[in-house]
Amino acid sequence: FSYPLPANEPVLNYAPGSAEKKRLKEVLAELKSKEVDVPMYIGGKEVRTNKKYKLTAPHEHKHVLGYYHEGEEKHVQQAVDAALAAKEAWANMSWENRANIFLRAADLIATKYRPYMNGTTMLGQSKNAYQAEIDAACEIIDFLKFNVHFLSEIYRQQPISGAGMHNRMEYRPLEGFVLAVTPFNFTAIGGNLPTSAAMCGNVVIWKPAHTQIYSAQMFMKILKEAGLPDGVINLIYVDGPTVGKVCFTHREFAGVHFTGSTGVFNNMWETIGKNMSMYRSYPRIVGETGGKDFVMVHKSADPDVVATALLRGAFEYQGQKCSAASRAYLPSNIAEKVKKKLVAGVNSFKVGTVEDFTNFVNAVIDEKSFDKIKSYIDAAKRSKKASILVGGECNKKEGYFVQPTVIETTDAKYTTMYEEIFGPVLTIYVYPANEYEKTLELVDSTSPYALTGSIIAQDRYAVELATSKLRNSAGNFYINDKPTGAVVGQQPFGGARASGTNDKAGSILNLYRWLSARTIKETF
Ligand code: SER
Repeated sequence: FSYPLPANEPVLNYAPGSAEKKRLKEVLAELKSKEVDVPMYIGGKEVRTNKKYKLTAPHEHKHVLGYYHEGEEKHVQQAVDAALAAKEAWANMSWENRANIFLRAADLIATKYRPYMNGTTMLGQSKNAYQAEIDAACEIIDFLKFNVHFLSEIYRQQPISGAGMHNRMEYRPLEGFVLAVTPFNFTAIGGNLPTSAAMCGNVVIWKPAHTQIYSAQMFMKILKEAGLPDGVINLIYVDGPTVGKVCFTHREFAGVHFTGSTGVFNNMWETIGKNMSMYRSYPRIVGETGGKDFVMVHKSADPDVVATALLRGAFEYQGQKCSAASRAYLPSNIAEKVKKKLVAGVNSFKVGTVEDFTNFVNAVIDEKSFDKIKSYIDAAKRSKKASILVGGECNKKEGYFVQPTVIETTDAKYTTMYEEIFGPVLTIYVYPANEYEKTLELVDSTSPYALTGSIIAQDRYAVELATSKLRNSAGNFYINDKPTGAVVGQQPFGGARASGTNDKAGSILNLYRWLSARTIKETF
């Protein structure tokens, strides 16, 4: 069964008066009119507990969207048992039938549940309609369809045979279960991490961030409607250490597909390493973690291109993308022009709720995040090495609103030039325009992370120099563009250093990690 390369899902634009905007508004009103009761899904059953927690809208934190049922250690155990019970039948199902479940889920989102995926993402994670559309609709549909394509390509790859013998590769699922841990910032990461492993014939425990549950449960319902058998993906809401305690001490633990912070990933890796003798096989450890993504600007750059890349790269979805532009190096010859454009741009942004479609900036995810971002801004206000160029207002009275903020520093090693903030904060550093090469070295030597980065230049030699000097500073490198917005099948996504294992989500490379090949030689 070969599935040809699909086309990317077209992005709807929700223009005033459009049918899709009208429908999305209806669904937003419907979602807001009721409080949803959200169970865990273990072995296909809805599991409720007596520990219920509120799901609220970050931009309107008094508004209760519903309640989720939090589980404990025994639920993790039950999820592992349910997954292992489902394993044999799932792994033995024909690839065509497995694939069709995920293709049907993609189709259900495209044709029926698109406004619900977008609506739950807008309300639960405070994304505007465009940011939700490229994530919860298009990117999930793309992940599902492209991964079916990539996997069908892998299954076709076979070794050569000769006279008197036939050789083949059997791409088996891993022995045991896979744990998928997903963050709040992309509904599509929740759409990808559990399903890419499951598609390969694996069974999965899926633990989303609690701030992602509202959209995650919507996707789980769609997978069920698409025919996903009970127990193949088990969705649980249990705190990370408890999930780790059960999964990382289990003989059948086969791997973890993780997106989240570098610190949590390091801890996981250490625990898995210490427990290695408990496992049947060496587990696959796949992680996409933090970023401190740069925009390097050459003196030949067009200031308009620079400003657009920075404004969109740093502030779309409130900067809560691991790919977000968070440090920029501006050459002295155009720095003033770019700064003026940044100030004008930030002042033109409307900040507010997601239901008013004219708001470009919405709230950050929760109070903890708000407080952390604010502390960086406050420190910059006090610092002798930094100043606020524009923005800096924070207000959590009704929602967790942080005004997009540009910090200017005279110290290339100032805190906000290397620590990940995960909010709408960009730091700029102006360098002497004739010290381009030296500054490229500075960018690389101050990059503990290596996720994304951009070079903006019209001079082709400057592009060439940056491409080679910054070879290891970013897994996704953009020339004359913002460093965000990777599209499945177009820009496979991931980075090395403290940014992860660079197993490229949205590419064939990621799928290999969830397979364990057996070579079979038959002699005639
Ligand atoms: N894939 C997203 C981007 O490129 C980040 O996860 O912006």
